[in-house]
Amino acid sequence: MQIKATPTKLLDWTGGLLAVGILEGETKLSEGLAKLDEQLAGTISELIADEEFEGKSGSSAVGRVGGGNSVRKVALIGLGKAEDLKLDSWRNAAAAIARLATKEKTLGISLPLGSQSPETVAQAMTEAVILALHQDNRFKSEPEAKEPKLETVDLIGLGGQEAAIAHGETIASGVILARELVNAPANVITPGTMAQTAQQLAQVYGLEIKILEQADCENFEQGMGAYLGVGQASDIPPKFIHLTYKPSDTAKRKVAIVGKSVTFDSGGLNLKPSGSGIETMKMDMGGGAATLGAAKAIAQLKPDVEVHFICAATENMVSGKAMHPGDILKASNGKTIEVNNTDAEGRLTLADALVYAETLGVDAIVDLATLTGACIVALGNDIAGLWSTDDALAVEMKNSAEMTGEKFWQMPIEDKYFEGLKSQIADMKNTGPRPGGSITAALFLKQFVKDTPWMHLDVAGPVWADSPNGVSNKGATGFPVRTLVNWVTK
Ligand code: BES
Ligand code: MN
Ligand code: ZN
Repeated sequence: MQIKATPTKLLDWTGGLLAVGILEGETKLSEGLAKLDEQLAGTISELIADEEFEGKSGSSAVGRVGGGNSVRKVALIGLGKAEDLKLDSWRNAAAAIARLATKEKTLGISLPLGSQSPETVAQAMTEAVILALHQDNRFKSEPEAKEPKLETVDLIGLGGQEAAIAHGETIASGVILARELVNAPANVITPGTMAQTAQQLAQVYGLEIKILEQADCENFEQGMGAYLGVGQASDIPPKFIHLTYKPSDTAKRKVAIVGKSVTFDSGGLNLKPSGSGIETMKMDMGGGAATLGAAKAIAQLKPDVEVHFICAATENMVSGKAMHPGDILKASNGKTIEVNNTDAEGRLTLADALVYAETLGVDAIVDLATLTGACIVALGNDIAGLWSTDDALAVEMKNSAEMTGEKFWQMPIEDKYFEGLKSQIADMKNTGPRPGGSITAALFLKQFVKDTPWMHLDVAGPVWADSPNGVSNKGATGFPVRTLVNWVTK
């Protein structure tokens, strides 16, 4: 499928499906649309009347154009009220159009620009079309849904926006990598194959790569006892992945992105009971998947920022070698942890990854993790929790997310709640009481960052979708690759 910025005028476009955006309450056609309506023998005004189409956000109507016309079908897409328009309105509209057009070979999209620049709209629409059409059929002997037939998508009125389209395509390729890593089951994506994926990225896009093997992790500072404790029951060796993107000129900033990469979370000896969603715990490397997806896009977009991508990959399993509930682990910064619950493993792996990230001398560390069910209880499936020790960093990320439409909500770093993590015998326990469970998890992580501005994103809900939502389809969403890439590149 090719997405094109076409200089062709709306009235001159010919092809299978022509989709036009309509604002809520503006169903009295604009001059351009009135002319098009005339040319299409009144199909648009007929559709509006027959379908009682009001332009509400998310609404659509499709009609056939009478015989012999150079456009076969026309689709109306509601953009919602003019005052509610956000960049995501264009993205959602383009995603809805793409889903309507899968049986067509050619699609033309014409949306009003509103107050947006043509660049941002072209990029957003490109991302949306690609991501809404993406299906992961790798594990089916025969694809269930018909593959989209679309060959060309013309962005009408956006002639000259080739670079923005290419930018959108690159970002979408990073999102799709993240989706594929999360969708792949734990017998396919292991610490080893995750490391191979990172190695391929390094090779193809010229990134530096370092893989720390188990022995290297034992020797890092005081030993990565927290991370290695989680992995010790698995038959598959852990792989601590560190990819680096360096700009050709001096970097104006250095940042680290650290993604939780538990390729399967059984819970350990605090085994997840049936009904707890244990069978979905292949998604527990969603943070690491988004980290590698962001690496793929950033390596191609080449911003003047140095970015370190870190995935402490391992499995949380059960065996005679498993950590016992109550074991005391020592992290690489020397802090000791009483493991009162082996199912709170993500924070143990991240503890050592954060210590490692800080030794790189970066200006900011952002971790992202499918860390707690408590965050899903607090914010639901669509919104990630955001904690930050640095207000400016929080504002940057929230602004970035505003543009991508990925949703975050800032949560409090309530230091008093650390009391819930106090241990009789060690420096801290790894879990506290049930109330505020996503906050104590964040406070636990905070113990492993000294003075670098730090942000924690709990993405347990949004990495997976049970039904299509915006540009996401059912399954892995690739959240929050777009926000991370936008944060680094803008
Ligand atoms: N990976 C889970 C969190 C999770 C839950 C991610 C649902 C995605 C969907 C994490 O390792 C975990 O098990 N957390 C426990 C923490 C508890 C033991 C304090 C939880 O949320 O129940
Ligand atoms: Mn767990
Ligand atoms: Zn987990």
